[in-house]
Amino acid sequence: EHLKPQSTPLTGKRVTITAGPTQEAIDPVRYISNYSSGKMGYALARAARNAGADVTLISGPVSLATPQGCQRIDVKSARQMHQTALEVATRSDIFIACAAVADYRVGDIAEQKIKKSNEQMQLTLVRNPDIVAAVASLAQRPFVVGFAAETQDVARYAKDKMQRKHLDMIAANNVASPDSGFNVDENALQVFWADGEKTLPRASKQQLADQLIKLITTQYQHETN
Ligand code: CTP
Ligand code: CA
Repeated sequence: EHLKPQSTPLTGKRVTITAGPTQEAIDPVRYISNYSSGKMGYALARAARNAGADVTLISGPVSLATPQGCQRIDVKSARQMHQTALEVATRSDIFIACAAVADYRVGDIAEQKIKKSNEQMQLTLVRNPDIVAAVASLAQRPFVVGFAAETQDVARYAKDKMQRKHLDMIAANNVASPDSGFNVDENALQVFWADGEKTLPRASKQQLADQLIKLITTQYQHETN
């Protein structure tokens, strides 16, 4: 079979990707999380690796195999992901925040399993740190790409997030739409950067990841030259 020579525009570049959900403990046997499968982040890791990059995946709990040739650091909570991301990002050229980070964690994690008692119970949640915003505010910052999970006004909310978090680029998906979003194999993305945008129509997450890595590479080269 005839194989095309691979183009490796990211050779020598260090790409860090957060992926999957985070788990926020309630007590020793329970947690709060979300439906993120990690598939998009892992597909991005594969695409970046295929483009020649040294890839580090900072992964929440997922049931996916580590892509060939990628380094993987497993974390559970948003705070663990935050700490790891800040360490790794200082030596990264490109940082892609694909993880579905829990916005809140349980304020007071019970040391023992909570026993049931009343008909109702309350958990007090506190805000988690914003990982991608923290990376984008580093003095020596990498090129920073975020995602935006929206159910309405996708473009407006996504562009607003890009500005608020000082991102170089944002990839928005409509998680309310049946053909995109969480825990499915296909997706569609609307990508925005300071002076442009591009729609990546519905495709497999791997195809989208390949296209997104191409877009990121172009903008990254544009910004660093
Ligand atoms: N993100 C992050 N740390 C958080 C929350 C989100 O790094 N604590 C990142 C996600 O990985 C994603 C981007 O921020 O790249 C946007 O996530 P999203 O949940 O869409 O936005 P939020 O800023 O959390 O706002 P909201 O959920 O209220 O829409
Ligand atoms: Ca959020």
